[in-house]
Formats: sequence, structure tokens, C-alpha cells
Amino acid sequence: AAAQLHGGTPEKKLREMARQAEHCTRCDLYRNATQTVFGEGSPDASIFFIGEQPGDKEDLAGAPFVGPAGNIFNKCLEEAGIDRSECYVTNAVKHFKFRLRGKRRMHQRPNAGEVQACRWWLNGELELVRPRLVVALGATAANSIAPRKFKVMRDRGTILPFMENQALLLTVHPSYLLRVRDDMALQRELFVRDLRTAAEFVH
Ligand code: URA
Repeated sequence: AAAQLHGGTPEKKLREMARQAEHCTRCDLYRNATQTVFGEGSPDASIFFIGEQPGDKEDLAGAPFVGPAGNIFNKCLEEAGIDRSECYVTNAVKHFKFRLRGKRRMHQRPNAGEVQACRWWLNGELELVRPRLVVALGATAANSIAPRKFKVMRDRGTILPFMENQALLLTVHPSYLLRVRDDMALQRELFVRDLRTAAEFVH
């Protein structure tokens, strides 16, 4: 994807790619979503976070992780000593997938075909940012980029090999922390611990 862009800095190329993605019809999700939510953050980021897909708030705002999941994500990043503005934050799928329940737009998981179609953009972002560490937040992100042999709940929190010279860390999705019942504080602590592992790795 990145190879098809004209010259310029990675920053310019990312902006160009985001503009191209506004008109994406690689899968059908563009039909009902408000807009493409492209990744954002530093083109020099050493940590590259991948979520699942924009939620209701992100779909309206046009930016990733600005809703409830984004709020808890931001707090946990801060606790782990990670400056979000120095990272790159994106999603495996760039359009919000939902079904209507009355007037509410209920999140639906993107399917494998939708994730695959959106790899085009994710690959481009990865090529341009060239992060030292990719952090997959949850199973959708993990399934999009991690080799099949890795499993989120088994392999979370350990630095895994990824591509050449890059590394991968799997962890849970921040919205999981909003859903778990009994051990929310513990799960949140484990998530922050994974983020600290990421911070120490790129330090
Ligand atoms: N959940 C995600 O996976 N990504 C977002 O951007 C927001 C919520």
C-alpha cells in the first residue's frame, strides 16, 4: 500500500493514505458507517497499538479510541507511563460495524473477510511507521496480524517476534475491562502490567 504513494516524509504519506482511505470500498462496512476512522499519532512512534474497530463515538468523531474504551485506555496508558501522543493508535478495521436496536447502534464484531480487506490499510500504516513494537489489543487485532500459533490469553504480556526486527505484544482489549464483572480491578492491573512491559521494551 505504502509503495503506491508519491514521495514525501512518512508523515505526509500517512496523511495521503488517510485521505485515500476516506473513499474505501474494499468491504461493505463503508455503507452504514459515518466515516473512515484512520489511525493517528506519531509517524516516529516506537509503539503501534491496534484495536478492533471504531465504536459509536469514534465513528462520529473520526478518531480512534475517543469513547468509553478510549477513556480507560488513556488512563491505563498514563499509569504505565506511556505518552499516547508519542504512539501510533489504529484499528484492525476502519469502519464502525453495528446493528440498530431502536435508535442505538450496537457494536458488531467485524468478520474475517472485513478484517482481511482492511489489512491493506493496516499494512500501509505499519510500513510507514515502522514501529519497534506492535501491541494488539484483543483477539480481532491479534487475528489480523499475529501468526496463528499465538493466542491472546495464553501469550499476553510477553514480547513475541514479529516480522524482521520488530516485536509484538498481545493483550486484552480495553473494553474487556469495562465488561468483566468480578475481578475488574485485577484485570485492569494486568492490562497496565502489559502496557508497562511495552514501555520497558522500547525504553
Ligand atoms: N474500540 C476499538 O477497538 N477501537 C476504537 O477506536 C474504539 C473502541
